[in-house]
Amino acid sequence: MKILVVGSGGREHALCWAIAGSPLCKKLYCAPGNAGIAREAECVAIGSEDIPALVTFARDKQIDFVVVGPEAPLVAGLVDALEAAGIKAFGPSAKAAELEGSKGFMKDLAARCKVPTAMYQRFRDAGQAKAFVQAYAKNHPGKGIVVKADGLAAGKGVTVCPDPKDALAAIDEAMLDKRFGTAGNEVVIEECLIGEEVSFFALCDGTTALPFGSAQDHKRVGDGDEGPNTGGMGAYSPAPAMTPLLSEQVMAEIIRPTLAGMAAMGRPFKGILFAGLMITDSGPKLIEFNVRFGDPECEVLIPRLMSDLLPALIATRDGQLKNFALRWQDRAALAVVMAARGYPNDPLRGTVIGGLDEAGKIQGVTVFHAGTKAQDGKVLANGGRILAVTAVANTLPAAFTSAYEAVDRIQWPEGFCRNDIGWRAIPSWRKLRGLKR
Ligand code: AMP
Ligand code: GLY
Repeated sequence: MKILVVGSGGREHALCWAIAGSPLCKKLYCAPGNAGIAREAECVAIGSEDIPALVTFARDKQIDFVVVGPEAPLVAGLVDALEAAGIKAFGPSAKAAELEGSKGFMKDLAARCKVPTAMYQRFRDAGQAKAFVQAYAKNHPGKGIVVKADGLAAGKGVTVCPDPKDALAAIDEAMLDKRFGTAGNEVVIEECLIGEEVSFFALCDGTTALPFGSAQDHKRVGDGDEGPNTGGMGAYSPAPAMTPLLSEQVMAEIIRPTLAGMAAMGRPFKGILFAGLMITDSGPKLIEFNVRFGDPECEVLIPRLMSDLLPALIATRDGQLKNFALRWQDRAALAVVMAARGYPNDPLRGTVIGGLDEAGKIQGVTVFHAGTKAQDGKVLANGGRILAVTAVANTLPAAFTSAYEAVDRIQWPEGFCRNDIGWRAIPSWRKLRGLKR
């Protein structure tokens, strides 16, 4: 088969890495890809949101199957456009991608399907939103409030506000200052959930859902979960908090009802459903849905998969998951994201990264590229998050040790990473990292 992967991050590198190893794959393209992906696939200079150019390319090259990584082209209808042109594609239609594209849509669906989630209200008027916040604060003293821009905001549209005053400011920013453009025309205001956060994944073929593992991400830029939010600074899988029992509960209370609800609306969901969960004292609750693999979660899920990924993606597209099974390694994976100095606000671009081959020689380690470009035989930083240094090992602490050993071999003075990826699950992480406190 000729396969095209769309995207340019660590997630797409992991997808290309797995697909390139599939006996079914004869030729692999990636648009636009990056310097690491170029080792697995032929990179083509088409942006991941350029739908007409992607369809033309896929048609010209007679691509058999397209795998779409990021949310923006899914929400914009890339899969619809490819399928209309007779090209099979993995990922939800634009109508199904609204689960991520509109937080209000997702909350209404959850309410209709009785999916456990935070109490919420939708607002198109800033005055009414603020009045709601003030009333909520009065009736629930000491409780936090979450303000969310309805639309896609590149992961920046959510403000968790311990103090209601911050919620009022967040409403102004989204609705009046238009910080997220039209994505903030509407806001969702929610109660703040307390607990441990887990990313949960399931392949969905419209009617059947197949669990695809769990992971824990690290959203804040700094050690100890300090500093601003990012796309994710590291992850590990499986998430110890997601026990088999809890996993079945999530399938029964969250994933399957959502799939049934979407099908009933004439929007069958096909692709990978990523549920952001809060494990609260009263059970798992849905924080949000994403309609794609997580990044860096994908980089720790895929290396644990023993089955061939490509047939699973094709069965998802073809509605054939019913009798499909996946085999997983009973091992742990941990990925440390290395970012360019200045990330997430203003990352330094164009600096040279060395030691990548040395890092990749450590047993169980794969260095996925997230934002790199090749120039004159060198690898340059070309974005915010640059590498996802991933290790698979028998235990999570062993994966931690290998991943950081690899990180320490990378010569990149202008890069940085968190030192505590996995801290929740690895009590000895300080010692393993050689830190006093
Ligand atoms: P994002 O991926 O940018 O949408 O991030 C949203 C983040 O905000 C989540 O990962 C949670 O940490 C947090 N969050 C969102 N909604 C809630 C909620 N209702 N209660 C507590 N935290 C939330
Ligand atoms: N790592 C979180 C996400 O991909 O949205």
